[in-house]
This record gives sequence, structure tokens and C-alpha cells, in this order.
Amino acid sequence: MDYTAKWRTPPLKHPYLKVSQLLVLASLFYFCSGIIQVNKTVKEVAVLSCDYNISTTELMKVRIYWQKDDEVVLAVTSGQTKVWSKYENRTFADFTNNLSIVIMALRLSDNGKYTCIVQKTEKRSYKVKHMTSVMLLVRADFPVPSITDLGNPSHDIKRIMCSTSGGFPKPHLSWWENEEELNAANTTVSQDPDTELYTISSELDFNITSNHSFVCLVKYGDLTVSQIFNWQKSVEPHPPNNQQQLWVILILVVSGVIAVITAITGGCLAHRSAARWRQRNRNKEDMDLEKMSPINIGSAQASV
Ligand SMILES: *[C@@H]1O[C@H](CO)[C@@H](O)[C@H](O)[C@H]1NC(C)=O
Ligand SMILES: *[C@@H]1O[C@H](CO)[C@@H](O)[C@H](O)[C@H]1NC(C)=O
Ligand SMILES: *[C@@H]1O[C@H](CO)[C@@H](O)[C@H](O)[C@H]1NC(C)=O
Ligand SMILES: *[C@@H]1O[C@H](CO)[C@@H](O)[C@H](O)[C@H]1NC(C)=O
Ligand SMILES: *[C@@H]1O[C@H](CO)[C@@H](O)[C@H](O)[C@H]1NC(C)=O
Ligand SMILES: *[C@@H]1O[C@H](CO)[C@@H](O)[C@H](O)[C@H]1NC(C)=O
Ligand SMILES: *[C@@H]1O[C@H](CO)[C@@H](O)[C@H](O)[C@H]1NC(C)=O
Repeated sequence: MDYTAKWRTPPLKHPYLKVSQLLVLASLFYFCSGIIQVNKTVKEVAVLSCDYNISTTELMKVRIYWQKDDEVVLAVTSGQTKVWSKYENRTFADFTNNLSIVIMALRLSDNGKYTCIVQKTEKRSYKVKHMTSVMLLVRADFPVPSITDLGNPSHDIKRIMCSTSGGFPKPHLSWWENEEELNAANTTVSQDPDTELYTISSELDFNITSNHSFVCLVKYGDLTVSQIFNWQKSVEPHPPNNQQQLWVILILVVSGVIAVITAITGGCLAHRSAARWRQRNRNKEDMDLEKMSPINIGSAQASV
């Protein structure tokens, strides 16, 4: 109450002050929350804008610094560009595009806040003319894991493997069924020394005589990716699917062979009686017998 009373004394200045206060607040808000964020993934190219233009003639009279946190990335003095070793051969400044910095083949270690500072000579000393910060977020997301069938290590037991690769930071893998963690086997984590990206895989053995619904869960940082694997017990517990298919093939092959033999034998018998009736020589019959044998051998091989 005292506060408003005091401000009421100069009535003309009152709205003016309020507007300027608002402007200060607005610009503070803009600088605090409005920092430009550039989201990229590993190996991509990032263009970070300094949001400032200079003419080619001015270039000789300015100093431009691009720095990340406390380390210098790139500096331009008297038109000469120097790039620090960590960024060498993959970073350049684009003077025609808002004094941007272009970083190629992004690494996870490039994550951070980049600041551009432009200084100009004034009365034989350098004065800061412009300063901008850009936040660079380099991410590496794991793709949804894939689950592969590794066959049956023993009777009633099936082995599956869950794997995913190309993410960061270091992942942790777990298998779950009905919200209970299961015992995983042969879980391996590896990291590519160049890209810093991780690969993870893990195996699980389970009894195929009952239904299952497994979840393979991969956690990295505060993110997760998962895959579900459903197993439905086959209608007949024995023999399992693979063997059933073999049986079907075997039965088909055997019935095919029987059909062929029956047809040929029938044909031969008919031919024989015809031959007997017509009193012909037995040359053709020999040929038919020769034809018969390769068919039998061929069928026997197919059923093995
Ligand atoms: C960048 O990623 C962050 C965090 O994932 C998100 O909050 C932000 O909105 C993203 N920014 C842009 C420009 O996509
Ligand atoms: C700098 O110049 C470019 C190209 O002429 C223009 O698109 C851009 O708006 C300018 N940037 C600023 C901050 O003035
Ligand atoms: C950059 O390239 C030059 C020439 O090809 C090479 O001599 C230098 O070792 C490279 N620097 C880095 C950090 O890769
Ligand atoms: C330079 O920055 C301005 C203002 O941020 C933007 O509108 C413009 O598109 C940028 N120019 C280029 C060539 O990216
Ligand atoms: C784990 O790997 C070893 C060696 O490759 C193998 O002998 C074993 O059967 C595997 N165990 C499981 C449960 O996958
Ligand atoms: C699989 O489960 C069945 C039924 O519970 C059980 O009889 C059998 O012993 C199990 N097999 C193995 C290898 O654990
Ligand atoms: C297994 O799943 C099948 C198909 O969903 C279902 O018909 C059967 O009743 C289930 N068996 C058991 C033991 O839950």
C-alpha cells in the first residue's frame, strides 16, 4: 500500500516506468529461456547461428570466437581462422550465413552450450559487439530391440536373444515376465571406440511347454526401449512345430512315391498284358524298368 502511494506522486512518469520494467523483464525472460536449442543425432551436421552479419571488409577488423563452455572451438582474427584440434577437419565458419559455425560428423562429446562472441576494434582496443549462445544436444537413441530365435538347446527348451545397438549412454538389459525379472544369460555390452555408441545383447532360455509373454527392456540414461515376445504353447505338446513340419513333408513324399510306383506298376502291368496279347518283343518293357529306378532313387534322396 505504501509502495503504490509513493509511485502515485509523479503521475506522468508512472506508466513509462512500468513499460520499461516490463521490457527488462521480457528481455531477461527471452535470454534465460529463449536459448536456441539444436537437436541432432550422432554423425549428423549441425549449423549453429551466431545471428550476426558482417561485411567482407569488416572481417579484417573483427575477432570472432566460437567457444563451448570454457574451451575454444574456432577463432577468427584478421580474417584468419583457427580451429582447435578436437574440431579440426570437421568444423568451419560460414561468414555469409550469420557467422554460423558448421560442425560435421557430430560426436556425443559435442554436446553442450556454444557461445559466439564478436569483437570490433574501437579506439585501438577490442569491444564486444555481439554475443549469442546456442545449445547443441547430440543424441543417440537405441532402436527398438529385436528378438531372434536361437533354436532349442535341449528338449522342451527354447533360446531367444534380444539385441539393439547404436545408442548412448551405456545401456542395461533385463528380461521380464508378469512384472518379475528373469535370469538372463550371456549378456554382453560393447562400445565402439570411435563413435562411443553401445551395442547390447542378452539370451533367455524358456520351457516351451507353457505359454509365455516376455519383455526385453533396455534402459539408457532416463530413456527405455523394449520389445515383447509371445510364445504360445503348441496344440499338441509332442512333437513340436519343427518336427511336425518334417512329418508332413515325409508323409507327402512317401505318398507321392507310392502314387508314382502304383502308376508305373499299373502301367507296366497294363503294358505287359497288352504286349502279351500283341506278341511284341520286350525291348520297351526294359526301357520302362530303367525309367523306374531313377524315380525311386530321386524320391529317396528328397525324403532324407
Ligand atoms: C530438443 O530436445 C529436447 C529434449 O529432448 C526437447 O525438450 C526440445 O523441445 C527439442 N527441441 C527442438 C527444437 O526440437
Ligand atoms: C544476415 O544475412 C542473411 C543473408 O543476407 C540474412 O538472411 C539474415 O537475415 C541476416 N541476419 C541478420 C541477423 O541480420
Ligand atoms: C586434419 O587433416 C590434416 C590433413 O589431412 C591432417 O594432417 C591432420 O592430422 C588432421 N587432423 C585431425 C585432428 O584429424
Ligand atoms: C540468419 O539469421 C536470421 C535471424 O535469426 C534468420 O532469419 C535467417 O534465416 C538466417 N540466415 C540464414 C541464411 O540462415
Ligand atoms: C552362453 O554362452 C555359452 C558360450 O557361448 C554357451 O555355452 C551357453 O550355452 C550360453 N548359455 C545360454 C543360457 O545362452
Ligand atoms: C518343462 O515344463 C514341463 C511342465 O511343467 C516339465 O514337466 C518339464 O520337466 C519342463 N522341462 C524342463 C527341461 O525344465
Ligand atoms: C495358451 O495360449 C493359447 C492361445 O492363446 C490358449 O488357447 C491356451 O489356453 C493357453 N494355454 C494356457 C495353459 O494358458
